[in-house]
Amino acid sequence: MTLMHPETGKAQERPRSAVRGVDRRALIAGGGAVLAAGFGAGAVALGRGRPASAPPPVDSAPAVPFHGDRQAGVTAPQQPATLLLAYDLAPAATSDGRSALRSLLGELTRVLAEAAGGTSADHRLQGGEPARLSSLVGVGPGLAARLGLNVPPELAELPEFPGDRLDPARGGGDLLVQLCAADRWPLTVVAELAGAAARSAGASVRWTQSGFLPRTPSGSTPRNLFGYKDGTANPDEEAARQWVWGPPGPHEHGTVLVYRRIRMDTGAFAALPEDQRDLAMGRRITDGTPLTGTAEHDDPDIYAKNPDGSYVIPAGAHVRLSSPRLDGGARMLRRGYSYDDGPDDRGLLFCAFMRDPARFTRVQNRLVAKDALNPFLRHTASAVVYVLPGVGEGGVLGEGLWG
Ligand code: HEM
Repeated sequence: MTLMHPETGKAQERPRSAVRGVDRRALIAGGGAVLAAGFGAGAVALGRGRPASAPPPVDSAPAVPFHGDRQAGVTAPQQPATLLLAYDLAPAATSDGRSALRSLLGELTRVLAEAAGGTSADHRLQGGEPARLSSLVGVGPGLAARLGLNVPPELAELPEFPGDRLDPARGGGDLLVQLCAADRWPLTVVAELAGAAARSAGASVRWTQSGFLPRTPSGSTPRNLFGYKDGTANPDEEAARQWVWGPPGPHEHGTVLVYRRIRMDTGAFAALPEDQRDLAMGRRITDGTPLTGTAEHDDPDIYAKNPDGSYVIPAGAHVRLSSPRLDGGARMLRRGYSYDDGPDDRGLLFCAFMRDPARFTRVQNRLVAKDALNPFLRHTASAVVYVLPGVGEGGVLGEGLWG
């Protein structure tokens, strides 16, 4: 199997030991890096020619390359810390708005490439452990419509869903930047540098949100604040080409990010007996195994029945209602983070990538109707953006927007 080398960008053979592990864990080989469930060392191991079973210690892991066909914020292994930054551009005539956006994307490309490559002039990004910054930049449907940008036709605001309690000040936005790193420090510094670039282009911060993951052994799936492994059933490379990335053409290496800030009543959920929690999820909290399987990466069989005729994965189970089998096989790539904004406001930053956000709408409509998790969830913010294709050395993000 041929992969892109994460550091050189050249094709390489994937080591046999990694192929099985990577495929079985439903990982994705992106344009310039390998994505692993959790912040496993898929790309790291391959980049150093080591087997996936022997990743380097975290602190010696190499930088995540900024340049590549696809943005590393989607393709690089998930990292323990994230910061989302949304900006609004000042209202302006179309031509002025376009030139403000163009100069902002130019500055952001420079800031993000330097921070990822360890060449930033900012002393706060020097002399420490490698920041391993990975990032993505996306544009919202409102900005795309205002400035007549060349974005996929599927990019659109989500409809309102029953039960939504969305705070507009925490969602939406013209431009979204997601930063991910090994820890919080580089996120804060890079956010400041990006903010300065935004201000000089007449943009202002609309909202920011930080998130985190538990430190999890390489190749294994991190847990969410309900305690379940989250991110198990993600598409492999072939499925991702069909369902996550754009079709061949100008948007081939772009995708759409759906973001939802979902408050979770972790105390009330934890008060349920464990078997009730597992029935609500359709998987076991112990190791993430579906109720119909014997290993985490077994496909949940939503048609399996008990001797009394009831479904093994109940009608209201989360993994039944979100199953691709109910949706013509359609997939999304979930890379969620937990958040903690105080004792009464903790939960999940649902971040999922897909070619067409209508996939999210179909799943969310089924979830809203009868997800057993509903009594414990509240959606408090939402955003949709077109995640731009990546850039090669010397390029600027968003080159395809102006056509
Ligand atoms: C706080 C809210 C949520 C929690 C705690 C949660 C948790 C989980 C867990 C534990 C799994 C099973 C493990 C895995 O495959 O990753 C899962 C699967 C999944 N969830 Fe969620 N989820 C939430 C919200 C959502 C939302 C809003 C959507 C989309 C509308 C969604 C879509 C999916 C999908 C597509 C799967 C994979 C189903 C499959 O292919 O088997 N989830 N979720």
